Amino acid sequence: MKLPRHLAIQNGHLYINGQDCVALAEKYGTPLYVTSEDRVVEQFENYKKALGARYPKVQVLYAAKANGNLALLRALAQRGAGADVFSSGELHLALDAGMEPGRLLFNGSSKTPGDLKLAVEKSIRVTVDSLDELHQLDAAAKAAGKTTEISFRVNPALTVPTHPKIATGLATSKFGIPHKDIPGAYREALGCKNIMPVGLHCHIGSQILDIEPFARATEVMVRIAKDLTSMGIQLKFIDLGGGLGIPYRHDTDPYLTPEDYAARVVPIFKEGIEACGITPELWVEPGRSLVADSTVLLTRVNSVKSAHKRFANVDAGFNLLIRPAMYDAYHEVIAANKADSEPTTDYTVTGPICESGDLLATERKLPELAAGDIIAVLDAGAYGFAMSSQYNSRPRCPEVLIRGSDVALMRRGETLSDITATMERPPWQK
Ligand code: LLP
Repeated sequence: MKLPRHLAIQNGHLYINGQDCVALAEKYGTPLYVTSEDRVVEQFENYKKALGARYPKVQVLYAAKANGNLALLRALAQRGAGADVFSSGELHLALDAGMEPGRLLFNGSSKTPGDLKLAVEKSIRVTVDSLDELHQLDAAAKAAGKTTEISFRVNPALTVPTHPKIATGLATSKFGIPHKDIPGAYREALGCKNIMPVGLHCHIGSQILDIEPFARATEVMVRIAKDLTSMGIQLKFIDLGGGLGIPYRHDTDPYLTPEDYAARVVPIFKEGIEACGITPELWVEPGRSLVADSTVLLTRVNSVKSAHKRFANVDAGFNLLIRPAMYDAYHEVIAANKADSEPTTDYTVTGPICESGDLLATERKLPELAAGDIIAVLDAGAYGFAMSSQYNSRPRCPEVLIRGSDVALMRRGETLSDITATMERPPWQK
């Protein structure tokens, strides 16, 4: 199987960033998320370099929803990253990590009054998703005696090749304002005393393994920019949304790079803005492609059994990685302590959750397995821990970060008392 540079097989074991996964599983226990900080930084720099080489005013905003660990946000903040935040919680994380408020964008299709108030207070730009929200934000800004800069989220009505649950710019999607209604929305914003419209935002979907949909979206965006410019709006930024999909199927999926993205999208962007006579910043908001392949989820085989097929029952399930159950997502799996052994047997790798859909991988050729073996689930860094739960009252596992030859916890594992920590005893039960 093709592996990215930070993963390697040595002496029969899987290594990540020079660290033996089997030794990490022994030291920290399983299940365990292990992330290479170096890889995340490398991917961020790849975006900055590819875009920056073609256009001087570029901002890369990390989509914090993909993996909200402060250690990762901090590493990215130190390199000048901003963030797409989708909740007060994500805003809190981004600020705590040291990201500059001017490099943050508060997105969301259903912001709470509290979200709007916090964005105003912290002077964070907001992507507005409806006229109702626009007027609520205007009122919140007025109450605080401030002016809030906004963009609108464009729904470009684009069909994209990805799972329907993560296509976000379909005409029928819940996100954004139909592209034909966008000029009217900006007109409305110009009438709001405490709102300053300065940007344009879109997001067409995630895990897209084709550059063309991004090119189409860019065309829509610069077309709208032209209308807005002729209305007298001065656009400070155009945000083209999330990043590329990643090759979850290592041997058959296409490998798209930020360079491929920039080479196709930036010329369309430049031609469009030159036609308007403007020079806004170009923003992108990658999540998955920055963090997905940086991380493996290590899980131990509890038992194996042959029923109608061969099962390896492991200690991580959709409580820790919901993507296979939720989107029928494919993740490569490797027997981390038998990585050199002949894959002879088809195994379905199942988690400890009381649901038939709790399968991490279905019918994969692996070496003969036994209780105690360590399975590494690859590409688990995006929407992995971030979407975890305590379902079946299983404490969430720890997360380990590696930089160079340094290894440290970036989140401790939860304990059984963390399960009950937020529960209250109703007075009549005292
Ligand atoms: N910006 C906005 C406004 C978004 O809604 C998203 C993702 C991103 C940026 C980042 O997109 P990316 O570069 O990661 O494709 N949980 C799903 C993915 C949901 C993505 C939702 N929005 C999964 O595990 O596949």
